[in-house]
Amino acid sequence: MKFLITGGAGFMGSNFIRYLLDNYPEAEIVNFDKLTYAGNLENLKDVKDNSRYEFVRGDIADAKAVAEVMERGIEVVINFAAETHVDRSILGPRDFIMTDVLGTYTLLEAARNKEIKRYVQISTDEVFGSVEEGEFSEQSPFEPNSPYSASKAGGDHMVRAYWKTYGLPTIVTHSCNFYGPYQYPEKLIPLFITNLLEGKKVPVYGNGQNVREWIFVSDYCRALDTILDRGEDGEVYNIGTAYRKTNLELTQLVLELMGLNEDSIEYVPDRPGHDQRYAVNSEKLRQLGWAPELDFEQGLKETVDWYKENESWWKRLKSGEYLKYYRKQYGSA
Ligand code: NAD
Ligand code: TYD
Repeated sequence: MKFLITGGAGFMGSNFIRYLLDNYPEAEIVNFDKLTYAGNLENLKDVKDNSRYEFVRGDIADAKAVAEVMERGIEVVINFAAETHVDRSILGPRDFIMTDVLGTYTLLEAARNKEIKRYVQISTDEVFGSVEEGEFSEQSPFEPNSPYSASKAGGDHMVRAYWKTYGLPTIVTHSCNFYGPYQYPEKLIPLFITNLLEGKKVPVYGNGQNVREWIFVSDYCRALDTILDRGEDGEVYNIGTAYRKTNLELTQLVLELMGLNEDSIEYVPDRPGHDQRYAVNSEKLRQLGWAPELDFEQGLKETVDWYKENESWWKRLKSGEYLKYYRKQYGSA
């Protein structure tokens, strides 16, 4: 099976490429990635010489480049490529619209023209907005609150339209928050771990009572594999673990794992439009035979250990452009 994985130089895309190469001796992969600030080929340096792996630099919103890459006998497209960070989308939504909406449309159009076997859209639970109690189901209405989630929702709607209108065999997945090795140190967990390793404080937004649901890399890869294997065309699948924590609870766990205390917390002004709570009902996926294997704290410990052992990976990312962005937002770093 020949896969086009877009955004494969990012956090979860690179982990999933490694998972496919390790678990499927027949899998061939073309990784198509623009290499934005979030794309990093170092994430895949262990597989770069694998004869079943090829990297092509390109933008999913560039119709010509996408049509060209599709000529390589692609059978399945998995679209991980996206602008992904909510705070960046608040500072400037344009790139999000260009990639997450226009890019998704461009890929769908190319996939339709090549009559591929399947198109899988990697999306987020954030399209459903915020749920004060209970859980999002696959039928929950889209109520996105940030430019990021609004852009992802736009892309997801387009995927639905290509299934309904043109019969393109599509699947949409809505996952809870990812965490684990190779996550760019702008997202909560790697930002906090690396700040603490640098002897800095961790910036908790507002009162820290916002709730997120978390999935570790290995559980996510198995979930997506299950959906690829047993999911049906035209269907939507939520991916969730029910590991739900307030940001403050999570911060306390990270501090404990690192032998630090609450003196390292700095409360900073809240994110505008900050969603209060995400909680995902993943019963439909569990019916396909998947369940998380790693408990949350075990995953967090593995994550802390990875960042401790891979300082050179994240040190470079935390300099330059990232610091400028961070200072603009909070005035300090
Ligand atoms: P990431 O930000 O680590 O990586 C994104 C990758 O996409 C980078 O390699 C980047 O270079 C590439 N990219 C960006 N724009 C592109 C374009 N126009 N053309 C080609 N490549 C482009 O992302 P991640 O956190 O691994 O998320 C992957 C996917 O999963 C995204 O679609 C995201 O919306 C979704 N998702 C993320 C989370 C999360 O917690 N991070 C949760 C649920 C769903
Ligand atoms: P984030 O990792 O940006 O993911 P998302 O907003 O897509 O869920 O943030 C996770 C939670 O952590 C969210 O409630 C915002 C909060 N947060 C902080 O409190 N401080 C920070 O520095 C960051 C980046 C996030």
